[in-house]
Amino acid sequence: EMSTDEKRARIYAIKERLGRRLFIPGHHYQRDEVIEFADATGDSLQLAQLSEENKDAEFIVFCGVHFMAETADMLTTEKQHVILSDLRAGCSMADMADIDQTEYAWTKLSELFGDTILPLTYVNSTAAIKAFCGRYGGATVTSSNAKKMVQWAFTQKQRLLFLPDQHLGRNTAFDLGIELDEMAVWDPIGRQLEFSGDVDRVKVILWKGHCSVHEKFTVGQIETFRKEAPETTIIVHPECPHEVVQAADLNGSTHFIIETIRNAKPGTSWAVGTEMNLVNRLGSQFPDKEIVSLNPTMCPCLTMNRIDLDHLLWSLEELENGVLHYPITVDQKTSLEARLALKRMLERK
Ligand code: 13P
Ligand code: SF4
Repeated sequence: EMSTDEKRARIYAIKERLGRRLFIPGHHYQRDEVIEFADATGDSLQLAQLSEENKDAEFIVFCGVHFMAETADMLTTEKQHVILSDLRAGCSMADMADIDQTEYAWTKLSELFGDTILPLTYVNSTAAIKAFCGRYGGATVTSSNAKKMVQWAFTQKQRLLFLPDQHLGRNTAFDLGIELDEMAVWDPIGRQLEFSGDVDRVKVILWKGHCSVHEKFTVGQIETFRKEAPETTIIVHPECPHEVVQAADLNGSTHFIIETIRNAKPGTSWAVGTEMNLVNRLGSQFPDKEIVSLNPTMCPCLTMNRIDLDHLLWSLEELENGVLHYPITVDQKTSLEARLALKRMLERK
């Protein structure tokens, strides 16, 4: 068995040899052992933008999850290869909206609401769902621009269908003054709209999906901090359930959480409702502040964690040998339509 130092040395040597031909973007939720080698770190919006701007790299070894690698593939040129070192690094949220379920929902919703709905999808979705949104005039959103994009959607149509994260959709719409009783939920398993009341009142249809990491945060955890450590500021990601976001002091995207804590006064205490690798990293990056997870049992994103030192080294060594593991390619038709949705977002950054 090779030592960790030997593995690290090999990765550094490959990076040295490939130079600008190789680009390694790393999402903030990745393991430290992988982030060490990232040429850039970011949240999903930043990584999408960096992929689009990077015209030099021949190989983009994406340290993140499958939907991010797909997005990178769609925003880069044909000569650039996007690689995900473990194909099991998916996203359970993205898997909650498949294209057949979505087409079915669209037919049913169109019967109910006619041509009054614009589809928006969180970037945490498959390329096929992004293409669906592109096809019907809609766009992608990320947690850092969701408000802006929802406002834009209402300049286009009276209603919107928000895929696949009901929580980000609900929290964003609520912040914009839309009442909870103006939001309906589409259940893709039961294949029905969950809404009691007059459907004419519906402004937002939320897809019934969620993030398995952020859904683990509860109001009970917040109450415990309020009681036992009242000086702690509670900051959560908007993928958390609505009542958690309402009970927290602050909420925002991964980028917002990082910047807020970076700019906070020394000596302040923070309980953070987001992925564990990031919370731990913030703790070591800002030792002058007390930073803990809001969930005492912690909550890693299992699929993010699939990308580890061994997988990264293996795919880089294979790449140098001329074998790509695993190339992520989105077919032309899907990519064309999905890019429409992505561009509508990127134009409004
Ligand atoms: P952001 O990077 O947009 O904050 O999204 C969080 C997330 O869950 C990524 O998978
Ligand atoms: Fe998907 Fe949640 Fe993991 Fe992000 S943190 S990749 S949304 S499961």
